[in-house]
Amino acid sequence: MNPMRGRFITLEGIDGAGKSTHMPSLVQWVTQRGHQVLQTREPGGTELGEALRQLLLHQDMQVDTETLLLFAARAELVQAVIRPALERGQWVVSDRFTDASFAYQQGGRGVARAHLEFLENWVVEGLQPDLTFLFDLDPVTAQQRVQRASAKPDRFEQQGGTFFERVRAAYLERATRHASRFCVLPAAQPATHLWSLIEQQLSRRFP
Ligand SMILES: Nc1ncnc2c1ncn2[C@@H]1O[C@H](COP(=O)(O)OP(=O)(O)O)[C@@H](O)[C@H]1O
Ligand SMILES: [Mg+2]
Repeated sequence: MNPMRGRFITLEGIDGAGKSTHMPSLVQWVTQRGHQVLQTREPGGTELGEALRQLLLHQDMQVDTETLLLFAARAELVQAVIRPALERGQWVVSDRFTDASFAYQQGGRGVARAHLEFLENWVVEGLQPDLTFLFDLDPVTAQQRVQRASAKPDRFEQQGGTFFERVRAAYLERATRHASRFCVLPAAQPATHLWSLIEQQLSRRFP
């Protein structure tokens, strides 16, 4: 591995859990340690990916189509943006990454894990985040936060019933399987407290 390679940090969790809230402080933390930061998000992060994001959020489609489009956007992002940035020594911070497919498409939509693992091996080729913050929040609280924040719900926000319970459970299962890189945050706590937990993890893992 290139010794100058940058670090890759991801933020995960259902809508309303607090990812966007903490992104600026995270970027600032990395910048203050003298690293260049590339901030991105999924789906999106490239011109093509942002176009696919609009379709994914607002256009009705089959579950398999959704899964494949997400991985298409991810292929573009990993190959054109994330890998080159890490190789240049930049740190990359992403609002969601492959863990989200296991949470939403496997947990939420019921896509077979084997399909996602195949796509992950193909598209991501072993690129795992160095550190993943999972903002773990009960869906009822999350929805109250989102309703306060935004007007028009997207295709995912419109899902009712147990959808977000299943997404949350799948995220937690993923965190258990990949325990060494995951930090699960109790996202119902006040933002200031969460930031202190995040900062502790950052200092411990990237001294
Ligand atoms: N720890 C927190 N406690 C209370 N409200 C919060 C907390 N973190 C975020 N919020 C609020 O919840 C809403 C959704 O947060 P946001 O960071 O946009 O979530 P996400 O990006 O994960 O969807 C925002 O209005 C934000 O101000
Ligand atoms: Mg957000």
